[in-house]
Amino acid sequence: MTSEADKGAGPRHVAIIMDGNGRWAQSRGRPRLFGHHAGAKRVRQIVEACPDLGVKYLTIFAFSTENWKRTQVEVAGLMGLFRRYISKEARALKDEGVRVRFIGDRVRLDDKLVSLMDELELLTCENEKVHLTIALNYGGRDEVSRATKRLAQDVAAGRLDPADVDEETLPRYLDTCVLPDPDLVIRTSGEARISNFLLWQSAYAEYEFIDTLWPDFSPEIFAGLVGNYGKRDRRFGGVVA
Ligand code: IPE
Ligand code: IPE
Ligand code: MG
Repeated sequence: MTSEADKGAGPRHVAIIMDGNGRWAQSRGRPRLFGHHAGAKRVRQIVEACPDLGVKYLTIFAFSTENWKRTQVEVAGLMGLFRRYISKEARALKDEGVRVRFIGDRVRLDDKLVSLMDELELLTCENEKVHLTIALNYGGRDEVSRATKRLAQDVAAGRLDPADVDEETLPRYLDTCVLPDPDLVIRTSGEARISNFLLWQSAYAEYEFIDTLWPDFSPEIFAGLVGNYGKRDRRFGGVVA
């Protein structure tokens, strides 16, 4: 694919590392969880902005496999927030045509949260206006490890010939198997790292690292970044004609 084909077109799949909730709260003298609540409120507006911007897939990083290192109070607060968020937003997501999926390892999540996640996926499974994927207990290395384990099981069981394993094979075992690769990855809060997010899938994504803290991220900022994307030359290793 050359830049000719891509220049001017918007990103079909945007992935966001929603960072900076803690600092946003701390700068107001409030506990970190106050920032997480403010951050969660932002999500709806960004999802709603997607159709007009031509963004068909939105993937958001809500909790990483490394975030268990935080205090028990913060982790428990976040898990409670996820449960309440899903219960509260389910109806609106369904009515607005949003199809919700979760990626990440569910094994470590509590049963109540996992059943809410399953229910929301089922409730919205016929929607196709926007595909919202929420990464919860997600880590790129963990995902590739789990995928490799299942691939190895298929080899051991004689269902897969190692000679047939190529770049098309492994992604079929990833949590994102039904999603296109992200075109644009945005990280808020000024950190210029990807913190184990979508490692395989973002091999050729464009990146935007912006200083705004996630609770201050707005549909206008989002639209600006989506607009910038269209100005980039995506060469995929090729040469601009
Ligand atoms: C991102 O905000 C949300 C999660 C990681 C759950 P942070 O909580 O990392 O906020 P900062 O980076 O400490 O400001
Ligand atoms: C990445 O943010 C994870 C999420 C946004 C859920 P972190 O705040 O956990 O990342 P680091 O610790 O700055 O790398
Ligand atoms: Mg952070």
